[in-house]
Formats: sequence, C-alpha cells, structure tokens
Amino acid sequence: MKIAVLPGDGIGTEIVAEAVKVLNVLDLDFEMETAPVGGAAYEAHGHPLPESTLNLAKQADAILFGAVGDWKYDKLDRPLRPEQAILGLRKHLGLFANFRPAICYEQLTHASSLKPELVAGLDILIIRELTGDIYFGQPRGRRTATDGHFPGAEEAFDTMRYSRPEIERIAHVAFQAARKRSKRVTSVDKANVLETFQFWKDVVTEVGREYPDVELDHMYVDNAAMQLVKAPKRFDVVVTGNMFGDILSDEAAMLTGSIGMLPSASLNAQNQGLYEPSHGSAPDIAGQGVANPLATILSAAMMLRFSLDQPEAADRIESAVRQVLAQGLRTADIHSEGTTQVGTRDMGDAVVAAITKTTIKS
Ligand code: IPM
Ligand code: MN
Repeated sequence: MKIAVLPGDGIGTEIVAEAVKVLNVLDLDFEMETAPVGGAAYEAHGHPLPESTLNLAKQADAILFGAVGDWKYDKLDRPLRPEQAILGLRKHLGLFANFRPAICYEQLTHASSLKPELVAGLDILIIRELTGDIYFGQPRGRRTATDGHFPGAEEAFDTMRYSRPEIERIAHVAFQAARKRSKRVTSVDKANVLETFQFWKDVVTEVGREYPDVELDHMYVDNAAMQLVKAPKRFDVVVTGNMFGDILSDEAAMLTGSIGMLPSASLNAQNQGLYEPSHGSAPDIAGQGVANPLATILSAAMMLRFSLDQPEAADRIESAVRQVLAQGLRTADIHSEGTTQVGTRDMGDAVVAAITKTTIKS
C-alpha cells in the first residue's frame, strides 16, 4: 500500500509530520512518499500541482494532505495559486465525495461558541459533493455585459450545474453512510430559487426511494445555516452541493469548538481517497510549533478506515486522541483554564505515547 504525503504550505508541514509519526508507530506495512504541493510546489517547480506530484497522487492508494495557501501568492494568476492544487487533485482523481464529520468531543464542549447543551454529544456528518457545481461549471470568465441591469459594463460570471449521474452518486453515498448511523439524511438545496437545486432535490428524492429504511428530509440552505446554530443536533447526515457544502462545513466545524479538530476524507468511485484536515494553512501561526495536529492525525485514521482497510488501526488512533484530551493536553486553539497547553510536537508525541501504551496493555 502506498501513501502519497503532500504537506503543502504554512502549518501543513508541521501537522503532517505529526500524522506521519503516528502512522509510523502502528507497525503496518505501507510505503510513504512525500511531494511538494501548493505554494511550496510553485516555489520548487513553478506550478502548484506539478506533473510529478499529480502522478504520485494517482499511483497512491491514499493521499495524506496538509494545507495549501499563503497571502503572498494572492497576486499570482488564478491557475498558479496554491488553491488550484487541491481543486486539481479533486478533479483529476475524481474525488467527488467529501466527508466532513463535525464531532464535539466531550472535553471540548465548553470550547464551542454555542451553549454547551446545544453541542454536547454533537455528531453530524456533512457529505459535500466535490467535483461539480459552480466550482467547476463552464463557461466562466469576464466579459462586457450585453444585457442585465448594466449593458456595456464589465461583468464576471460562473456556471452552476449538476448532471443526473453526479447527483445520483453522491446521494447513494449519503444514504449508504446514513445506514451505518441513525438512518436520517437531510438534503440541503436552494430549490425555491435555483433550477440546479430543484433538479438536485428531485434526483435525491428519487434515489431515496431505493432506501426506504432511511428517512429523508429537504431543507433550504439559508434555513440549514440557521438550524445549524439553533439546533445542530437535529441533523445527522447532511448531503449538499459543492458550494453550500463548503460554507456549511465551516459553520458546522465551529460548533465543535475548534476547526483544528476536524478531519476530512475525499473519495472517488474506487475508494481512493485524499485525507486532509478541514482547516487551512494558517500562515499567521506557521513555523511556530503551536498548530493543532489532531485534525490531521484524525484524517490519517479516516484514511486507514476508508482507503487502506485497517479499521482497527483507525480505532487505535481515535481512542489515543480521546485519551490525550482526557489527560488535559490542549494546543492553543482549544486551550482553556485548568488544561495543559502544549505545542504541535508534544501533542503528536502524546498521541504516539497513548497508542504505544495501549499496544503493550493489549
Ligand atoms: C475547502 C477549501 C477549498 C474549497 C479551497 C481552498 C479551494 O475552502 O476545502 O473547503 O473551497 O473547497
Ligand atoms: Mn472551505
């Protein structure tokens, strides 16, 4: 089994190093190969997603990804910006199914900006379609308007679109995921305004008939944004399009106290996957050794479960993370009175120690 390790920019290198450390103590038989991506790849090869990195990713069974981006690349032409690396990987590898769990760990209930009773025990799974929608729809660009409110003015446009097969396959992913959980799916759309999302709603409803044991409801995205902060525990599996999923998953992440805790998986039809923390490259704290590596470590656990068929190893990592939280260890983003603040490396070491201890005991 081969893992492509793509640390990227900012805190990416620091947090991925901790996840690699954790993977290495599991005594499993896999090969890891590292390549630059994002701004780091632009510096080294003049492109955020060089051929060599893309080929490594294509050949690997799974990709462990850190984060990309830095303000210093904001002036580059869009195709050369670090963000294009992640969009390119999603597109070239067909990673259409994005799993973004939002779990509120018991010890972090008070780290949320919402009242503890609203988030205690929260465990929702946002399933975001990742290769369609307005992110990839063509045509897009700039031109001179020939109609609209200001004919003759300069304008920009993107295209929102979804095909039936694209909606069907992500709907199947959501219903199957729900079968392993509480058997409830909420499909989020904007069917009251957008043709694309009326179609989305119709197709999800049709697919839902194949899963009579799963309860399906539909919600407009504006209401979903409101419900997420009003009564987040009413959700279980949420399935939605690329752009709404981008926005709602950040919102859901904050319910849990820190985006520094949340892993994600992006899978294609072959179960090949890219695993990355839900947060970004945080250039403001890069190189200081203070970033929270737990989202990346938990992403490595998802990788073991979804792409590498090692569910026990995944369990070991997840229970080690719970143990270090129970020990009171916290990085700056989740630190509160009465807990012990540690840096990136110490947090990684603590997870490693928790894993090795369990191994000896068992
Ligand atoms: C995410 C990010 C990306 C997205 C950016 C970096 C392209 O915000 O993974 O949520 O918008 O999908
Ligand atoms: Mn995002």
